[in-house]
Amino acid sequence: MQILYIHKLMGSVTVHIKSFGCQMNKLDTALVTAALKEAGFVLTDKVKEADAVLINTCSVREHAEQRVFSHLGHLKHVKEEKPEMVVGVIGCMAQRLGKGLLDDGVVDVVCGPAQIPQIAKLVKEALGERKKTVAVTEKIRQESAQSTALEEFESVYDRADKAIAGQAYVRVMRGCNKFCSYCVVPYVRGPEVSRAPGAVTEQIQRLAGQGVKLVTLLGQAVNCYEYKAGEKTYCLADLLEKASEVEGIEWIRFVTSYPQVRFYDEILGAMAGLKKVCNYLHMPAQSGSDKILAAMNRKYTAAEYLAMIEKAAQVVAGIEVAGDFIVGFPGETEEDFAATVEVVRRVRYKNCFVFKYSQRPGTTAEKRLQDVVPQDVKRERNIRLLAEQEKISGELAERFLGQKVRVLVEGPSKKADVSTCKEKGYKQLVGRTAEDWIVVFDGPERMAGEFAEVEIERTSPLTLFG
Ligand code: 5AD
Ligand code: SF4
Repeated sequence: MQILYIHKLMGSVTVHIKSFGCQMNKLDTALVTAALKEAGFVLTDKVKEADAVLINTCSVREHAEQRVFSHLGHLKHVKEEKPEMVVGVIGCMAQRLGKGLLDDGVVDVVCGPAQIPQIAKLVKEALGERKKTVAVTEKIRQESAQSTALEEFESVYDRADKAIAGQAYVRVMRGCNKFCSYCVVPYVRGPEVSRAPGAVTEQIQRLAGQGVKLVTLLGQAVNCYEYKAGEKTYCLADLLEKASEVEGIEWIRFVTSYPQVRFYDEILGAMAGLKKVCNYLHMPAQSGSDKILAAMNRKYTAAEYLAMIEKAAQVVAGIEVAGDFIVGFPGETEEDFAATVEVVRRVRYKNCFVFKYSQRPGTTAEKRLQDVVPQDVKRERNIRLLAEQEKISGELAERFLGQKVRVLVEGPSKKADVSTCKEKGYKQLVGRTAEDWIVVFDGPERMAGEFAEVEIERTSPLTLFG
């Protein structure tokens, strides 16, 4: 506190935060931002004006790490003119690379995902004492990420003052035990730990009190949530039920689901039976080939996956499914890829995220399999799969023509300023339906965080226009 006080006498201490990666990271960034503000830091979006720059990082693909390194390269130049600036790396890369990140002299603070409760202290020390610090978990698979510090940090700093009005993420579990052979997450986020249902519900109540209408429950395999208290085992369906009871909350989503049968009926039942639970399921298949699925250590076959999707469609009327696929996994032949295309055709996803396989250090795929599919084949399969999906998304979107949809308004769209608005002074706004369709329409900016009825006049594969 004292150090910050001295800085404050000279003017406020400013911090710039840049975030890469998934929703988990977005949530961590929001928590870190709230904690830094409370500690007296002032946020700035200008790197050159910042006393400290923090980068929240992602390790899931090599490309994500390269982007961080190029950003650090840029900061190296900034630091040449401003050597007193503190640079901190937080998140998955911090955990994966540890003190190795200090090597080229740019980084001052390395802080893993389990150490973020200390972030304000670490940055203050770096500013005041000019010392380099590395705070990561030594033996990540042996230490449970369920620390009281993390729990406290989460419940104190998860606030409604987020980038998107009226929405918040709520973590229901940390870490992952699935060990998909390509994935680095279990090695950087540690073992799976489900949070106490009471803590999750309290957090949702607090957020609702702050005006949050949509909560998205987060977990790497969120449907595997399991918490034992005495005789009772709580599953995600119990959390959905509890969240549904919270006044003020109108929509509840959960991501990401792993295709497992345990608890599936309960979760589908909750989706079908609870009005507030959005009919949206993000359940990645990753591949449509049984050979590749086995090599990926995914514990299901394509037929089992398809049966799960079919069941979801039967139980939950109007369900929309989103997926992830990896193309170019070691050993993926044209035939394996054709099986993936077939799954995309059968499921008719609302949208799919398609990734080119990226070999990650320390994973079993990296140790046992050679990254043999050439880059251009990966690229070409990526394009083909996306084209296939685009056709389906386009067809699904057309159903909305002339229909009225209910959307939760997020705010001005990215093209808000270039759009020609019919209503004078209105911006182009963007919102989403409960099933996660993106809707663009004209309206007053103050609608951010509110629900709106929009009539759809035009559609594209990814967006509905009203
Ligand atoms: N290479 C490519 N994609 C990956 N994913 C995870 N690990 C890798 C990797 N090594 C993808 C999966 C996952 C999504 C978040 O990222 O599809 O569902
Ligand atoms: Fe990675 Fe698989 Fe865990 Fe998802 S379920 S985070 S892909 S190991």
